[in-house]
Amino acid sequence: MPSTQPIGVFDSGYGGLTVLKSLVEKLPAYDFIYLGDNARAPYGNRSFETVYQYTRECVQWFFSKGCPLVILACNTSSAKALRTIQQQDLVESGTKNRVLGVIRPTTEMAGLLSKTGHVGILATSGTVYSGSYVLEIKKFFPDVRVFQQACPLWVPLIENNEHQGPGADYFIKKYADGLLSQSPEIDTVLLACTHYPLLMDRLSLYFPASIQLVAQGDIVAQSLVTYLKNHPEIESRCSKRGQLSFYTTDDCADFDLHGGYFYGAVVKSERVFL
Ligand code: DGL
Repeated sequence: MPSTQPIGVFDSGYGGLTVLKSLVEKLPAYDFIYLGDNARAPYGNRSFETVYQYTRECVQWFFSKGCPLVILACNTSSAKALRTIQQQDLVESGTKNRVLGVIRPTTEMAGLLSKTGHVGILATSGTVYSGSYVLEIKKFFPDVRVFQQACPLWVPLIENNEHQGPGADYFIKKYADGLLSQSPEIDTVLLACTHYPLLMDRLSLYFPASIQLVAQGDIVAQSLVTYLKNHPEIESRCSKRGQLSFYTTDDCADFDLHGGYFYGAVVKSERVFL
């Protein structure tokens, strides 16, 4: 196997493609491989044990492809599996490979973005009930107040390409109102699920213009730039031919069709059996 290999980017389904897009824009020289575990998506309502087991299998697949670094571009996996993978699996296996998530970079920015110190989180039930955003934001910004709203139906609507349809409005408004009713002072809302940037246009109809809606892609990409600068031992193992490949655990034709909306360009995937 060549001594340098692509950076792995993972999501339960299509959502991580919104992050991948920012990563490729920011780091065009690097190679990336993307895996969507579409056969088992969504992860959002699953137990800690299940999300950990699925995520772990996908991380092992990336390692078997030689990836020195894997980004969990999925908040649910970052909330429910990352800590165990980092503190237990990587340590026990003695690997030099690394796994990073999307919650830490986002929470590091949260308090800087808000003027009122009232920050809203929109996320899957799994991410909300893990408490990860509240805990992490408190670490960096003890005075910031965090308000959360679980949006369990948004990922299924998006994965089924129903988010632009008239049926979606009811659930978009329902969860937006649920967050807004918690504090009139919220001025920053984090889209803490990598699927939600696809709802940006619709969300802006239900949030006042004074509230900024923040997607994670660019934040995660900037954080990866910094990480690679600070970790030459990983950076030197990342291949740089500007190549990109896509894998899915489910049907490739579906992935290519839907993935194209998320990635904003043509996507051609290969099937993986884990
Ligand atoms: N895209 C994932 C996230 O960021 C959630 C999707 C799912 O529920 O599987 O949380």
